[in-house]
Amino acid sequence: MKVGIEAIAFYCPEHYIELVDLANARGVDPDKFTKGLGQLKMAVATPMEDTVTLAINAGLKVLKNFNIDPNDIGTLVVGTESGVDHSKPVAVYVHEALGLRSNCHTYETKHACFGAMAAVSSASDWISCGRAEGSKALIVASDIARYPVGDPGEPTQGAGAVAMIISDKPNLLYFDPEIIGNYTKHVMDFWRPLYSKTAFVDGHYSIDCYLNALEGALTDALAKATVPELYKMDKLQACIYHVPFAKMAAKAHHRHFEVDKGEKIDKESEKFADVKKSFNEKTGPWLSLNAIVGNIYTGSLFLSLIDLLRNNTSADLKQISMFSYGSGCAASMSIAYPTPGFEKFKDKINPEPELTARRKLSIDEYENIMKISDSLDIGEAEEFSADEWDLTSDFLYLGSKNHIRQYEGL
Ligand code: HMG
Repeated sequence: MKVGIEAIAFYCPEHYIELVDLANARGVDPDKFTKGLGQLKMAVATPMEDTVTLAINAGLKVLKNFNIDPNDIGTLVVGTESGVDHSKPVAVYVHEALGLRSNCHTYETKHACFGAMAAVSSASDWISCGRAEGSKALIVASDIARYPVGDPGEPTQGAGAVAMIISDKPNLLYFDPEIIGNYTKHVMDFWRPLYSKTAFVDGHYSIDCYLNALEGALTDALAKATVPELYKMDKLQACIYHVPFAKMAAKAHHRHFEVDKGEKIDKESEKFADVKKSFNEKTGPWLSLNAIVGNIYTGSLFLSLIDLLRNNTSADLKQISMFSYGSGCAASMSIAYPTPGFEKFKDKINPEPELTARRKLSIDEYENIMKISDSLDIGEAEEFSADEWDLTSDFLYLGSKNHIRQYEGL
């Protein structure tokens, strides 16, 4: 049985800032953000958009665009590291808003940015072992990435949700169940204590942790293959990665290339031209959405996947690799096969219209939003109005009453 992604949709907050504006406001050379990090724009969630509203909107979009009956969903998982309650999962709000059946297996997963990929693997196993009995799984990766204003991590924020239907009718892509490499290690590269709205990060160390995890997961994946040569880089038309910022995918591909070739290749070496060429063919072109959205944590890898699928045909893509990394840390390297004919669904997965309709914020407006977001949910929040933030979504966070979150549309 082939199991994989039948449908996918991305939902983005309605506002963004330009990273050139942010660089100017922080007194930084704009090239550092646009070339050094590879980021051009950053999605900004207003106080009325939270992980719940992003996840609901993405879930509704995937069901509607692919004409999927909510009664067919037997498992719902929301992968997130920016949930809204220490106890109540985001998934239950999504279950209610989407009108899913009461015997749906519903829960939330957390392992930094790895939470959604972990859910995709579990859902695939649930279907492969026959327990789904024809039902599908809905996996939603929903997050708002937050660092303190002025922090080196500030230009690597973002927000958004990717919803995916995992089933035994994988119209878009199916996974190789044998070749999944795993890696886990206790590291303090990035974390967010229960009392903090923003993440703490040891930035440069986090890059090392990510690359070590990639090497570990890739080595494990190849060790599981009966014929490892079938999964070497020259057999892959695309290599996609977790994308906290676009330049990180270039570093990731460099390490992937080195492991593949079994040698260290410095930037000064002549062979680095081969690394660059390979990156430009297999990874670079599929970072354009990440570059204008920012880090969406659990959904970042899948946003790059959407970019890959919307820009290719079955003739171009036969076999790809997908690397997921979650700080802390855990990682996986998977091999997947785009389904022949996936290009039929290009228009359904392309988020371009919504992204171009976003409204630009000034840095003052963005900083005001960050200030309000910092004080949200401490005691009783006042009720917000959609007009104040110029929002069009049917599902919005209104503030909290008697310590219960209130949502328009729910
Ligand atoms: P920084 O120290 O401000 O930046 O923080 P830098 O000095 O390292 O410069 C960044 C790049 O810009 C460098 O390129 C510079 O050379 C270049 P590189 O050497 O790396 O190729 N640069 C310039 N380029 C052109 N013109 C210029 C210029 N100036 C400098 N004028 C850092 C960078 C990424 C550390 C920071 O943004 C940060 O802490 N980010 C958050 C952490 C992060 O994203 N880590 C990534 C790996 S961990 C991960 O992915 C997990 C995560 O998603 C969380 C989760 O799992 O939940 C974060």
